[in-house]
Amino acid sequence: MIAYLNGEFLPKAQIAISPEDRGFLFADGLYEVVRSYDGRLFQMEAHLARLARGAEHLRFQANGYGDLGDVCRQLLEKNDLTTGDALVYIQVTRGAPSVRAHPFPSAETPLTVYAAARAFDPLRERQTTGLTVMLLPDQRWARCDIKTVGLTANILAAQQAQENGAAEALLVRDGCVMEGSYSSFLAVREGVVIAPPLTNYILGSISRQVVEAICRREKIPFRAQPIYQNRLAANDELMLTGTTLEVTPITHVIGIDRQWAPGPVTRRLQEAFHGLT
Ligand SMILES: Cc1ncc(COP(=O)(O)O)c(C=O)c1O
Repeated sequence: MIAYLNGEFLPKAQIAISPEDRGFLFADGLYEVVRSYDGRLFQMEAHLARLARGAEHLRFQANGYGDLGDVCRQLLEKNDLTTGDALVYIQVTRGAPSVRAHPFPSAETPLTVYAAARAFDPLRERQTTGLTVMLLPDQRWARCDIKTVGLTANILAAQQAQENGAAEALLVRDGCVMEGSYSSFLAVREGVVIAPPLTNYILGSISRQVVEAICRREKIPFRAQPIYQNRLAANDELMLTGTTLEVTPITHVIGIDRQWAPGPVTRRLQEAFHGLT
């Protein structure tokens, strides 16, 4: 497999990253996961825009990471991934200065830029049958809108969900369901698609943006408003959306005495989403 590091394409096995890298030492970095459908990178511009926004918030050197759209396209070609389903992973960190210290390293320290592509199995049957999820406290920091590689709280939640037979965790803060550990959360009530408000406690999900655009196009009402944990059972449909899950129905929430069948709005959104990919 050919991967990319700091301007070079190399066999992945030859890639070495310094133990001084601030991604390794501090999780001082950003990442993106981009989906490719038969060689076409879905929503690449939106992923790059989110990365640029994160870089601005973290005060990375302005565009210190080059044209990553082109890097991703080359990775697909070099790894024979121009047909079928694939994922490209991108990570940018604040580089590898010689001394570990919390404040930023000197301005000349180059960012570390890594990217790799791999074939991906979208497990489409989950989109047909739906998933079980588990409610868990949201223990993340107060800047969940920045897609940093500091994912410990997400990992612990995902693991706990898996150990309880759920495919994803639903993270709850102050009584409200915010999102999943690796996906966004949406509900449908009386024909309205409801999504948690985009605050600093939630990632600006690109798949959710796509769903919102589909709703606009198809005249399905879409509203950003809090989704309360204790009123989850009153929703007609629940779903997850994300780069890897696309649009996937939720059929069961552990601890809630109700089963949901994948509903008509979810099915419409799924179909329209596939139409776009
Ligand atoms: C915490 C979190 N929320 C939501 C999402 C979905 O975002 P996107 O649609 O951009 O993949 C992800 C994806 O990685 C995520 O990690």
